[in-house]
Amino acid sequence: MKTTAAITGVAAYVPEYILDNAELEQMVDTKNEWIMSRCGVSERRILKDTDKASAFMAAEAAQKLLAKKNISPLEIDLIIVATVTPDHQYPATANIVADMIGATNAWGFDLQAACSSFIYALNTGSKFIESGTHTKVLVIGSDKMSSIVDYTDRKTSILFGDGAGAVLLEPSTDETGIIDAKMYSDGSGKKYLYQPAGGSIMPASLDTIVNKQHFVHMDGQAVFKVAVTKMADVAAEMMERNHLTSDDIAFLTPHQANKRIIEATANRMGIGMEKVMLNIEKYGNTTSATLPLCLSDWEHELKKGDNIILTTFGAGFTWGGMYIKWSY
Ligand code: UT7
Repeated sequence: MKTTAAITGVAAYVPEYILDNAELEQMVDTKNEWIMSRCGVSERRILKDTDKASAFMAAEAAQKLLAKKNISPLEIDLIIVATVTPDHQYPATANIVADMIGATNAWGFDLQAACSSFIYALNTGSKFIESGTHTKVLVIGSDKMSSIVDYTDRKTSILFGDGAGAVLLEPSTDETGIIDAKMYSDGSGKKYLYQPAGGSIMPASLDTIVNKQHFVHMDGQAVFKVAVTKMADVAAEMMERNHLTSDDIAFLTPHQANKRIIEATANRMGIGMEKVMLNIEKYGNTTSATLPLCLSDWEHELKKGDNIILTTFGAGFTWGGMYIKWSY
């Protein structure tokens, strides 16, 4: 019997502080109505503590998940942290998280594919389960986007928020779990969404700080045009490859970058918005955390055997789709 990787639990963490559109109106030249109509974000969570970052949020989500599942951290084999805002360039956030939660038997690494980091990490984690070499894999998406957002830039400050979500992957033989996935990348899209400085091509200097090159730089319209087709294309591809009609789909779990992109994806799949996990209004775009935050918010509505399509699009460009038959 074929072994698949099943999500057997999910948990999330978001910081308490709420940055709403009214407060943003005081910070940059924008209006609540503009933000709501262009991207659908009303509030974002911000991790204000200067001594806490992505590893802290990841560990909070992971600890909640272990407590919920009544699993010892010593049972975890592997931790993959999806993040574009690691605590440090090195060591990997996954190493720090393992130490924070006491997962001393686990090895781990970070995976970075911008807003597609979590789906890439989930796909990667599933292979360790399918191969039979690992039985408990934690896949965590965590981003402190507030650490790389320029709060004087109205084009990006309205979009992003902080948060983390974690899932546990375990082997399944009952034909539920991750059934299919397809990942894509096109590096020619680099110039439309990136963080210019801080890497080896442009190390930190006084100039990079003065020129605000450690922040997110985005040509929103250019990204929107590609995102709106690619996210829908890969979701439709998952349906076609697996002979699923719109009636077969229980839920769409889309990356939360823009409500209009999500609506276009649902439309392409022929499903109504009642089948779409949509929480961009309260969290904004949390980059690597959007998918697990959705799964956590909707967990109580999911039933064993539900067909779920995950889809993402992000900088790189990177994008991907996944078909999951829910396991519990
Ligand atoms: O998760 C990774 C992938 N990221 C995405 O998928 C993001 C994709 N892009 C988007 O979601 C959208 O492009 C945005 C929400 C970022 C912007 O929406 P848009 O409809 O593309 O607006 P725009 O950039 O074309 O700007 C339209 C106008 C401009 O004014 P003019 O030049 O027409 O006079 C902007 O200067 O709106 C202006 N504008 C704003 N006005 C009020 C830009 N930002 C704001 C703002 N408040 N915050």
